[in-house]
Amino acid sequence: MKKLLGFIVLIGLILACNSAPSNKGGSKADEKKKEVNNKGIGEITHVNLNDPLDPDMIKRGKAIYDMKCAACHKTTAQRVVGPGFQGITEKRTPEWIMNMITNVEVMLAEDPAARELLKQCLVRMPNQNLSIGDARDVLEWIYDNDAQKAG
Ligand code: HEC
Repeated sequence: MKKLLGFIVLIGLILACNSAPSNKGGSKADEKKKEVNNKGIGEITHVNLNDPLDPDMIKRGKAIYDMKCAACHKTTAQRVVGPGFQGITEKRTPEWIMNMITNVEVMLAEDPAARELLKQCLVRMPNQNLSIGDARDVLEWIYDNDAQKAG
């Protein structure tokens, strides 16, 4: 019985995270612009993206993803515990993504976009204790993942 209850709660959480974001106040275009400019809160104020992407960084980033993120984040757009990563580079700035990874407590408390995600997912992303360098490798892999999915 306890097990069943736990299962029901888990399904509830997954469904909760799948629900569409609420769309209140401000036009769609306004919202989009806000997100495009939002660098989040934390140490990361500017990221230089590599073009082409760096294969060694991608490899390290993928290893970190497999170990520390895959349980909650899929490489597709599908949400499980957290949002799927596919398409994230189009909706978030690289600075926002890295601040979310390295400064998640403050982001969930103070950043509007992160708070909106928390409202949908109900689960708090735990701090994964990544160094800035590790987070940068994961970011490289996230860009590669989007490039693969698009191509
Ligand atoms: C225990 C589950 C869990 C783990 C492990 C986890 N996350 Fe998350 N993540 C979440 C949840 C849930 C959210 C949505 C915000 C919230 O509710 O806290 C999220 C949000 C995010 C976002 C923002 C997504 C978007 O669509 O804007 C990024 C980026 C992110 N996580 C990166 C990572 C990375 C990188 C790792 C591994 C180093 C990781 N997460 C590990 C649960 C997790």
